[in-house]
Amino acid sequence: MSSFGLWIVGAGGHVGAFTLAGWHALRAGLLPPTGLVTTAPPFETLPLGALEDAVFGGHELPGRSLAEAIERLVAERILGREVAEAAAVRDGVAAAQRELREGVVDHGGWDDVQRVRTDLDGFRARTGVTRVIVLNVASTEADVADAASLPRDPDAFVAALRAGARLPASAVYALAALDLGMGYVNFTPSTGSDLPALHALALARGAVHAGADGKTGQTLLKTVLAPMFAIRRLRVTSWVSHNILGNEDGRALHDPGRRASKQRSKRAPLAAILGYEPESHVGIDYVPSYGDWKLAWDRIVFAGFGGAEMTLELTWRGSDTALAAPLCIDLVRLVELAQRRGERGVLAYLALFFKSPLGASEHRLDRQWQALVRHLLPELPASEVP
Ligand SMILES: NC(=O)c1ccc[n+]([C@@H]2O[C@H](COP(=O)([O-])OP(=O)(O)OC[C@H]3O[C@@H](n4cnc5c(N)ncnc54)[C@H](O)[C@@H]3O)[C@@H](O)[C@H]2O)c1
Repeated sequence: MSSFGLWIVGAGGHVGAFTLAGWHALRAGLLPPTGLVTTAPPFETLPLGALEDAVFGGHELPGRSLAEAIERLVAERILGREVAEAAAVRDGVAAAQRELREGVVDHGGWDDVQRVRTDLDGFRARTGVTRVIVLNVASTEADVADAASLPRDPDAFVAALRAGARLPASAVYALAALDLGMGYVNFTPSTGSDLPALHALALARGAVHAGADGKTGQTLLKTVLAPMFAIRRLRVTSWVSHNILGNEDGRALHDPGRRASKQRSKRAPLAAILGYEPESHVGIDYVPSYGDWKLAWDRIVFAGFGGAEMTLELTWRGSDTALAAPLCIDLVRLVELAQRRGERGVLAYLALFFKSPLGASEHRLDRQWQALVRHLLPELPASEVP
């Protein structure tokens, strides 16, 4: 019997579909584990759940099929056709399609929470899995001010929902998952589980959660480079970042409200690492012909001894989805392990994976790496930490 379930919210999007197809390709030996942290030293000895032991389901908006999502990955040269059409991948995708349910659009109330809860509980019962992890890779939502004003106490929070309060869809999924004791991972900048009442609920139900917003490209670079300027006392005057992307995420981020939510998440690390706020700007432009192959450009102006002004420019062209999917697989396996070990609440040691890490103020990649290793392998001598 399978021992855990992965429930993907936004399964028919790029990241959702590649996480699903990539998982099946990995377990069939069709793809090497490039970009995965958990299969390399020092983590290869961790007792992670076997890739073979997972079953899949998810929520999507009406009218989106997983097979079509995989076809889009092939058309954009993110996934090779031979891998997409291998029986192991095709069968895995078809099985997940049978467990796909209609999602909550934009906002939801108490009825939606109940419906999502029934979907998740039904999946757990039908598949016989003991643990389920809900992964949010749905389109980015706009920031919602009202959700933050809801009661902090879980019972009062539920009472407010019963009385008609509404939540952003990401928080509806998080509430249902945590209430059932399931793990929840928010790979997006949307609200998800980051409400006081949901933090308290996770602790009360013995559920674990992590987020927010996968750190895949430009912000990953920032959290490596900014410490260099800080350590060498070079004063950053301005740090201007631009992103040009043409995938559906880019289209969603064309909406000013959703874009603001992503920009807030992308800006967070810089001031925290430098200890002051340089002039900064994060632009996100949607240019459809770029597809998934995002161009990220950074221009950093900094001052040296005697005030000499210098600049550093960087361009990065990458497949957003190919960068994101292995992180999702790592996260799900680490959260499943945390559940099995009886951890509860926010998994702050997973900060390495996120732009806006829940429960952690550390943004520097190397420090986040040390924290991850120390938590997962406390016995490992410092001299053996890669
Ligand atoms: N690709 C990356 O490098 C990266 C990095 C960090 C964060 N993210 C975030 O991951 C998310 C997914 O990115 P993507 O490129 O796969 O986007 P995408 O647009 O291809 O996929 C999003 C999917 O979510 C579905 N969806 C929208 N609202 C939903 C809802 N309420 N319930 C269920 N499904 C819903 C859409 O129909 C779509 O299929 C985005 O929020 C993005 O910001 C991506």
